[in-house]
Amino acid sequence: MTAITSKGFGKKIIIGGFIFLTVQYLSYLCIALFARDKPTEHELVGLLDKGPIGLQISVNSKFLQEAKVFDLILWNTMTGGLDRYGFNISHTKIKKFIGLPGVFNTFTTSLVVKRVYTFFVVIFHTREDNFWWHGPLYNDESNTGNSARAKPISDNLQFMRREGAIPRFELEEIKLFHYNFVLPKDIPAFLRATSGSAADFIECNYRAAEIFYRHYNRDTSEEAERFRHQAWKLLSRAKRILNDLEVPFWLSSGTCLGYLRQCDFIPYSQDVDLGVFASDYKEEIIPAFVSHGFELHHTFGILNDSYQIAFKYGKIKLDVFFFYLDQEKGTIWNGGTEARSGRKFKYTFPAFSLCWTEFLDLLVRVPCNTTKYIEANYGPNWQTPVTKWSWKSSPPNSEPNGVWPKDIWSKVINIRGV
Ligand SMILES: *[C@@H]1O[C@H](CO)[C@@H](O)[C@H](O)[C@H]1NC(C)=O
Ligand SMILES: *[C@@H]1O[C@H](CO)[C@@H](O)[C@H](O)[C@H]1NC(C)=O
Ligand SMILES: *[C@@H]1O[C@H](CO)[C@@H](O)[C@H](O)[C@H]1NC(C)=O
Repeated sequence: MTAITSKGFGKKIIIGGFIFLTVQYLSYLCIALFARDKPTEHELVGLLDKGPIGLQISVNSKFLQEAKVFDLILWNTMTGGLDRYGFNISHTKIKKFIGLPGVFNTFTTSLVVKRVYTFFVVIFHTREDNFWWHGPLYNDESNTGNSARAKPISDNLQFMRREGAIPRFELEEIKLFHYNFVLPKDIPAFLRATSGSAADFIECNYRAAEIFYRHYNRDTSEEAERFRHQAWKLLSRAKRILNDLEVPFWLSSGTCLGYLRQCDFIPYSQDVDLGVFASDYKEEIIPAFVSHGFELHHTFGILNDSYQIAFKYGKIKLDVFFFYLDQEKGTIWNGGTEARSGRKFKYTFPAFSLCWTEFLDLLVRVPCNTTKYIEANYGPNWQTPVTKWSWKSSPPNSEPNGVWPKDIWSKVINIRGV
């Protein structure tokens, strides 16, 4: 199962049938591989001599159930295997409270394995919706041994320092030093997905959701269940369409509130709300939704001002709000339009960045400080359910923003649906 060569290069470690073995200075190596077909062995030795070798293994494990089994059996086997070859190993584990109803699970997120070289092993756990999740490489509290502790890794492996999510990518075997290594097939895409904060991941707060549901019963009426089911289908489709167009989006308004408060849709909200930066707008958006069975309901505003698109999918409405960066104020805003009067509204948010999260088994983005975003939109009492909500006057971050001139109404108030 485990084979380690005498110089400390992992030949191949196979767990659950997936291998993803790569070296420290991954970015350099990837760039080298990208810039030319293959770096020479000489170049690689030069690269490797500059620092420790990193090693990543992807594990095809069903996140909730199998990680536990994997933890107990496979890791022991592998650790034993490595031990026999004279490696010192230190494990990093993370304890997570996941799911509704929630359970505690402990996941091994990384290893530091040391003999001649230091190997950093980041474990990629397969999660629902076909993405790979990894924990932080360093986590002092849960480190189970320090004999192999290493200095924090270099900046180009930033993505390993925090929890991260990477949409699943294809792997490709390459031969180096007569051994097969596995690297991402599309290296530039891999680098984009892992550079800077692009992979940052936050977990839904299932503990808070449980407490919420202890106070407010979960609506399990047929109507509510039907809404949840249809909203999920809608979101899943919308996500696929926008992903295919490479348009990043996040859960906004009521959908984001439901995520933050109860890790679920809010049945009485009756729609699904997404945010998109206007700068990521693509002309293909409307045609793509329409060709996937969505009905265009309305568009309000123009691309540079208060733009929004609404679709109908079955009985549910999908609102796509476009957001604008106010560079001077360091804020982000979106607009609303009252169709009957042409009145405009502006909703202002503190600047935010986006994080991946898992929402009802779907990999989607939310503003990283979701609480801050929701507080801006719903006020400090967002935890209390409110069924009477006016999108014009209720949000504390709402302000009147003038009126569309009558002569452009036909352009900025465009209602198709009924
Ligand atoms: C492994 O750990 C032992 C005990 O802490 C230490 O004596 C030994 O030098 C370590 N070996 C390596 C290769 O770090
Ligand atoms: C949007 O563009 C129009 C010209 O096409 C311009 O008159 C208007 O001021 C712009 N609005 C904003 C909010 O930048
Ligand atoms: C997120 O925002 C909330 C509310 O504004 C604040 O209390 C909290 O400290 C922020 N969290 C982080 C990690 O910045």
